[in-house]
Amino acid sequence: AAGERERRIESALDALGDDVVILGHNYQRREIVEHADFIGDSYQLSREAANSDAEYVIFGGVTFMAESADIITDDDQQVILPSMEASCPMAGMAEALQVDAAWEKLTAATEDDVIPICYMNSYADLKAFCAEHGGLVCTSSNAADAFEWAFERGEKVLFLPDKHLGTNTAHDLGLEDDTLVWDPWADDTDPEAIRESEVILWEGYCQVHERFRAEHVEEVREDHPDANVIVHPECRREVVEAADRVGSTADITQAVENADPGETWAIGTEIHLANHLDRWHPEVDVVPLCGDACMDCNAMRQIDPNYLLWVLEELVEGREQNVIDVDPATADRAETALDRMLEL
Ligand code: 13P
Ligand code: SF4
Repeated sequence: AAGERERRIESALDALGDDVVILGHNYQRREIVEHADFIGDSYQLSREAANSDAEYVIFGGVTFMAESADIITDDDQQVILPSMEASCPMAGMAEALQVDAAWEKLTAATEDDVIPICYMNSYADLKAFCAEHGGLVCTSSNAADAFEWAFERGEKVLFLPDKHLGTNTAHDLGLEDDTLVWDPWADDTDPEAIRESEVILWEGYCQVHERFRAEHVEEVREDHPDANVIVHPECRREVVEAADRVGSTADITQAVENADPGETWAIGTEIHLANHLDRWHPEVDVVPLCGDACMDCNAMRQIDPNYLLWVLEELVEGREQNVIDVDPATADRAETALDRMLEL
C-alpha cells in the first residue's frame, strides 16, 4: 500500500508541476521529506516560502509555520497544511488574549520600555501583537540577534513563549543574572524583580525538548565516550551546559554534514531529524539522546503521508483543501514582525 501511495503522490506532483512546492521541516517523517523540494529549519523554510512563486505551498510542518508562510507569500498563493491537527503545543502556551492582559500588568510594573520578541513558534495574532508594541519575531537561529535589536530600542525584553530558548539566549548575551521567568498569574511576583530584570521570560516550553535531562547527556557519554553532543536551544539550561554544542535544527544538520567519517554525534532534538541524519550520513555514527518515544513530537507526526496524498489529489481535481488563511488585518501586522526578523 505504501508503494501505491508513493506512486500516486508522484503522479499528482507530475500533474501539478510548477504549481506546487513542498516544504518539509527537519522533524517531518521520512515519507514527507522524501517528497519535499526544500527541507530545513523554521528560518530556512520561511525564506523558501518568501522566495517561492508556486501557486500552492504545501507545508510539511505545524500550523504556526504554515501561518507564517501564508503571511509572507503573495495574496494569490495558497498555503496548504496536510493535517489541521498539526498544532505545536508550545505555540498554544502564549495566546494573544492572555498576553494582552499580561502586558498591561507588566507595563504597569515598570517605567522602562519593554520590547516584546516572540519565537516563530507562536500564532499570527501574537506576532501581530509584537509588531504593534515595537517588537519582532525570531527563530532558534537568530534569537541573540533579535535580543540585540530589541536592546537598541528599549531597556527590557519580554520573550515568549519558550523560557528555555529565552534562558539560553540570555546566557549567550551574559544577561543570565538579569533574567526573570515570569508567571503573570502568580500573585507573589515581587514587582521589584520585574523592575530589576532586563529579560522577562514567559513560562512556555517545548514538550519534546523539555524531556531531555543532563543525565541523558551523561548516559550517552558513558555509552559513547567519543561522542560529540549537540542539542537544540529549546532544551533546559542544564542540558545545554552538559552538551558540547547547541544549535537550531539547521546547525545540527550542518554539524553532522561536516563530521569526519567514524565520528559519533549524539543528537538532542526531535527523533525524526536524528533518524534522517543517520540515514543521510552512514559514515557518521548518529545516536539519539534519549530514545524514540522520548524525542517524538506528536504535532509534527500529524502530517501523515496519506494526508499529503489527499491534498495533492484534491488539487489535481481543482479542489483546495486545508488552506491556511490568516485574516488580512492580523497578517498585515504579523508581517511587520516577520520582516523585521528577515532584515536582521
Ligand atoms: P528550528 O527548526 O527553528 O530549529 O525549530 C525547532 C522546532 O521546534 C520547530 O518546531
Ligand atoms: Fe512544537 Fe516542540 Fe513539536 Fe517543535 S518540537 S513543533 S516546538 S512541540
